Amino acid sequence: MVDSNKKKLTTNFGVPVADDQNSITTGSPHYTLLSDTHLIEKLAHFDRERIPERVVHAKGTGAHGYFEVTHDITQFTRADFLSQIGKKTDLFVRFSTVGGEKGSADSARDPRGFAVKFYTDEGNYDMVGNNTPVFFIRDAIKFPDFIHTQKRHPAKHTKDPDMMWDFLSLTPESIHQVTILFSDRGTPKSFRHMDGHSSHTYMFYNQAGEHCWFKWHFKADLGFQTLTDAEATELAGTDPDRATKDLYDSIEAGEYPSWTVYVQIMTADDAKNYKFDPFDITKVWYHADYPLIPVGKMVLNRNPENFFAEVEQVAFAPGNFVPGIGVSPDKMLLGRLFSYPDTQRHRLGANFHQIPINASKAGLTNNYQRDGVMNIDGNGGAGPNYYPNSFDGPEPDAQYAVPAIDVTGLVDRHPFVLSDVDFVQAGELYRRVMSDADRSNLISNICGNLGQAQRRIQLRQTALFYKADEDYGKRVAKTLGLDLTEVKNLAAMSQEERVKATMS
Ligand code: HEM
Repeated sequence: MVDSNKKKLTTNFGVPVADDQNSITTGSPHYTLLSDTHLIEKLAHFDRERIPERVVHAKGTGAHGYFEVTHDITQFTRADFLSQIGKKTDLFVRFSTVGGEKGSADSARDPRGFAVKFYTDEGNYDMVGNNTPVFFIRDAIKFPDFIHTQKRHPAKHTKDPDMMWDFLSLTPESIHQVTILFSDRGTPKSFRHMDGHSSHTYMFYNQAGEHCWFKWHFKADLGFQTLTDAEATELAGTDPDRATKDLYDSIEAGEYPSWTVYVQIMTADDAKNYKFDPFDITKVWYHADYPLIPVGKMVLNRNPENFFAEVEQVAFAPGNFVPGIGVSPDKMLLGRLFSYPDTQRHRLGANFHQIPINASKAGLTNNYQRDGVMNIDGNGGAGPNYYPNSFDGPEPDAQYAVPAIDVTGLVDRHPFVLSDVDFVQAGELYRRVMSDADRSNLISNICGNLGQAQRRIQLRQTALFYKADEDYGKRVAKTLGLDLTEVKNLAAMSQEERVKATMS
């Protein structure tokens, strides 16, 4: 007899279970019987435990916390959660690596995902960014190809330097992000020790309906600290879940990680005349032109109670806006708006918004969408399931309209034409921002990896480094033992000529 005060083990339908250690079988010999419905339920549920891992950012961890407004930016945005100094909003954050599978090492060289879900009084707002202010590509149509090169080779089923550097060298707009990724910033010390950025430009609009463009920046209060390549490689073997543990343990110990949150603001007029396309995610806006404006503080102070329920099932989407924040004409961002809820319907099911970690605050969700797999929120009860109706159903409210944007021109596949301006910021980062030690580590990190690719691909990529900065290209060429004259010749060519010259 079990102590009657103890919780009773039950089936999924609440019926007490008498024995959870011995299957029902025949006497002798022991053939298991179909009549053991508890065994069958237990195995069948187990068989369905795994859901598809995220197609990217599969390995990650998360925590709960809050955002607190410290500065007034209501002149730019009507967002309610930013409306008052001192206002606090609950949030959930997930940090991740990008290319690896669910079991991969936290210390891998990779950008880190930095996704924040704000549970605001006007619905959920997601900031789905990275720890880098820029990205490899600037058109969503290239994303699946890019990600294939970061994953496994179709035949060898291993990571493949040829695939990766072939794509990057054929996609020169990646040079800025490649320079960040192969610096020690590509291996942050932990999730607590890294910054977060929206990378994209978004729209702010205020109560008067005036809009401007902005970018988010979350600066780690512990500073952006990094690992060397040797340290990261060692950790991948000895403690592959180090960053996951670090976040959990620091919160358990009451050492709450925090970030000071800023925005950069560009007026709509400035955007028309800036020195490069302000919606191009391969570039940063210079802080000298658009200084960081403080907004608030983000603190993580509570661990998930259940990893699967919260971290695995959380679903962020860059299109989850609240009034006061909106989309910009960045074609990477616009592609992302489709991709996230689409993959989440596949990964979690049509009613993924009802999973508690994804649900808006109680009572905020009111619409006419009904039914679907795993509908658990009452499904609108007996209320009307169509609009318009004259039965007191929820109504749209025009006061939440997003400002209209003027658009002209032809509908076409407009290319971003590669130009010298696409190499400027990578060169500046190398020359002006990095220390001597940073540059040495960068060269060594690149060469350790690029050195495993075919020589023609090494030459093509090194020409791009040379275009960004001559010293950068020369040092990579020297370390890889490439002929510098050949690199210089390739650097002087157009991308089309360079590709032709390095085809075989
Ligand atoms: C067109 C380009 C992109 C596409 C199509 C894309 C697509 C995706 C998809 C399908 C997921 C999995 C989502 C899920 O299963 O819940 C994902 C995750 C993620 N992406 Fe992107 N992505 C793109 C670019 C970016 C960029 C530029 C950033 C950062 C600025 C970013 C940040 C993230 C983050 C942080 C996650 C993980 C979210 C989480 O923790 O659940 N992605 N992306």
